[in-house]
Amino acid sequence: MNVLVIGGGGREHALCWKLARSPLCDSLYCAPGNAGTATVAKNLELDVGDGAAVVEACRERDVSLVVIGPEAPLVAGLADTLSTAGIAAFGPSAAAAQLEGSKSFAKEFMQRHGIPTAGAHVFDDGAALQAHVETCPIPTVVKADGLAGGKGVLICTTRDEARAAGEAMAVEGRFGDAGSRVVVEEFMEGEEATIFALVDGESVVVLQASQDHKRRFDGDAGPNTGGMGAYTPVPAVDDEVFARAVNEVLLPTARGMAADGMPYRGLLYAGLMLTAEGPHVVEYNVRFGDPECQPILLAMESDLLPLLLATAQGRLDEAEPPVFFDGATLCVVLVSGGYPGPYDKGLPIAGADAEVDENVVVFHAGTRRADDGTLLTSGGRVLGVTARGATVVQARDRAYAAARTIHWDGVDFRTDIAARAIR
Ligand code: AMP
Ligand code: GLY
Repeated sequence: MNVLVIGGGGREHALCWKLARSPLCDSLYCAPGNAGTATVAKNLELDVGDGAAVVEACRERDVSLVVIGPEAPLVAGLADTLSTAGIAAFGPSAAAAQLEGSKSFAKEFMQRHGIPTAGAHVFDDGAALQAHVETCPIPTVVKADGLAGGKGVLICTTRDEARAAGEAMAVEGRFGDAGSRVVVEEFMEGEEATIFALVDGESVVVLQASQDHKRRFDGDAGPNTGGMGAYTPVPAVDDEVFARAVNEVLLPTARGMAADGMPYRGLLYAGLMLTAEGPHVVEYNVRFGDPECQPILLAMESDLLPLLLATAQGRLDEAEPPVFFDGATLCVVLVSGGYPGPYDKGLPIAGADAEVDENVVVFHAGTRRADDGTLLTSGGRVLGVTARGATVVQARDRAYAAARTIHWDGVDFRTDIAARAIR
């Protein structure tokens, strides 16, 4: 069958890399893709915000499955448009994608279905928000309701910070439409972990846990980013924590969405805080996490394509469960100097085209190929050097050894990915 992957980041390179290895995959396309996806798929120049254009591109190429990587086209309804056109889409409907697209929707959903999460208040009114941040318990967390590219969350450890956050949302409108509604929630303490599940409306197949590193610098210092590295499995998610996450979060979420008339089809991402009272939801995402996707797919030894197709078609109960590598995998993200602030683009990258060793895959994110074949940077997160090993230490050592052979002007990365698991 022919498959189209929508998106152009590290997640999409990992998805294309994995799908291209499937014996069921004939032609593989990616839109818009990057220099990495171009090595395993054919990149298409396509406006992925234009549903009719995506449908037409699928018809021209006899594509029968579209895997939608990022959240924006899901929230905009691309899966609905494809389904209406009779093309199988991996990814939830616009209605179900509100789990990520609206933090107040997600919060009210969890409250309605008794899914553990931080207590919260929702504000549509700036004056009420400003009054609330004067008296709420500190620390507190102030979140813009809509999609803000991971930047709409302000963790306030003092009253002054809470006041400033309230003002940024209510008065300055710093988060635009995404911040016209605001969620203020209790601060939760603990270690964070991500659990992915495939959900076809009814059936749920849970994948192994992973852990992202959102802060820019070692020791979880500095600003939030899209993610600086990830690994799997996660020692903090032992069998008991995993079972609680499945029974208290993932299964009730799938059932609750079906009961509310918005059956969830696609990849459900539960961002969890492992609190003293058990796993609590920090956020839902409605797609594979980036960079968590990279180590998870490197660790998956079985074929991904039948699972994605079965999810899209509502027959996940018939699919073979996935098999994971009996070791660890780890991804180190190489970023442009200055990221997550302003950074240069178009810098030549040396060393990324070399096949390092069979245990290492360099997934591309912000890259493009110049006309003369030179590999250039084109984004903040540029490469995800991903390795496997018998232990997390071996996976880490292999990933860092490979990362250090890659160079461009300003390249940087965290040096402590998986430190929590190794300590
Ligand atoms: P979110 O976009 O909702 O995932 O938030 C981004 C990051 O902010 C999370 O990964 C957490 O590290 C942190 N965060 C969000 N909500 C809370 C909370 N209620 N308590 C503690 N940390 C939080
Ligand atoms: N790694 C976090 C995310 O994909 O949102």
